[in-house]
Amino acid sequence: MSYNFDDKHVLITGAGRGLGAHLARHLAMLGATVGVVDIDGGNARAVAGDIANAGGKTFAYEGDVGDRETFLRTAAEFAKVGGRIDAIVNNAMILHYCPVEQVEPERLGAMLDVGIKALFWSAQALLAHYDPERGASLINLASPVASRGFPNTSAYSAVKGAVVAFTRVMAAELGPRKIRVNAVSPASIPTPGGMGLNSPEEYEKRAQRIPLRRNGTEEDNSKAIAFLLSDDASFVHGEIFNVDGGVSAAG
Ligand SMILES: NC(=O)c1ccc[n+]([C@@H]2O[C@H](COP(=O)([O-])OP(=O)(O)OC[C@H]3O[C@@H](n4cnc5c(N)ncnc54)[C@H](O)[C@@H]3O)[C@@H](O)[C@H]2O)c1
Repeated sequence: MSYNFDDKHVLITGAGRGLGAHLARHLAMLGATVGVVDIDGGNARAVAGDIANAGGKTFAYEGDVGDRETFLRTAAEFAKVGGRIDAIVNNAMILHYCPVEQVEPERLGAMLDVGIKALFWSAQALLAHYDPERGASLINLASPVASRGFPNTSAYSAVKGAVVAFTRVMAAELGPRKIRVNAVSPASIPTPGGMGLNSPEEYEKRAQRIPLRRNGTEEDNSKAIAFLLSDDASFVHGEIFNVDGGVSAAG
């Protein structure tokens, strides 16, 4: 399905690489004006540069979205481009697994900041800059780890559990204000972050176990998000949308 997002202004966090970078390119290709935010400013500028070279409309921002002031300032800058923000995709996260006894306060704090606190700042930013007549969309990145116990993933899974809860609360709270809130829950996509958690051999093994018998792709994720942002999904709200080849269904 192809959409025309010429009039959409979408801010994507963690878009300097992986799923966020692919999504930025994908939405720009569909006509959206895309704000590429990443704590790695070099990557954010490189992604925005590629998009601009391909004729897309894009702006790069360097910043830690776990920090409220940074998130709100970045959103305010992006809102100046088109006079509003139509959607924010909360994609940024630190992908890190370890046994619970090795969880360190500093890294746990950073994971909670980018994975959970940023969601609150995104809702505040969208409320400050959306057009109440047009409505808006908030999309969060969940994971199958939110609903099943995978050993050695405590910090990451706790964040994703919170993402699911926050998505449902925001759907109830912001729906009456014409803001649709959904999450996508992708699985087993060998992004740079994913490759830091799983070896190529592990991805091979996973492909044998996943019901659809393959790993996910960045394109799978981007297409699902494009659907959720589109008018075709105008009554889809509070959904945790599995883009996981059946991982969650099968366990
Ligand atoms: N890859 C998968 O299979 C998979 C599965 C389920 C969910 N997800 C989720 O998808 C999202 C993207 O994952 P990915 O695989 O592309 O990971 P990735 O590590 O490749 O990319 C994450 C990006 O977020 C950025 N980032 C981290 N902390 C930040 C901060 N404080 N402020 C701004 N940017 C920050 C990083 O610099 C990086 O560019 C994450 O929320 C992840 O949990 C991924």
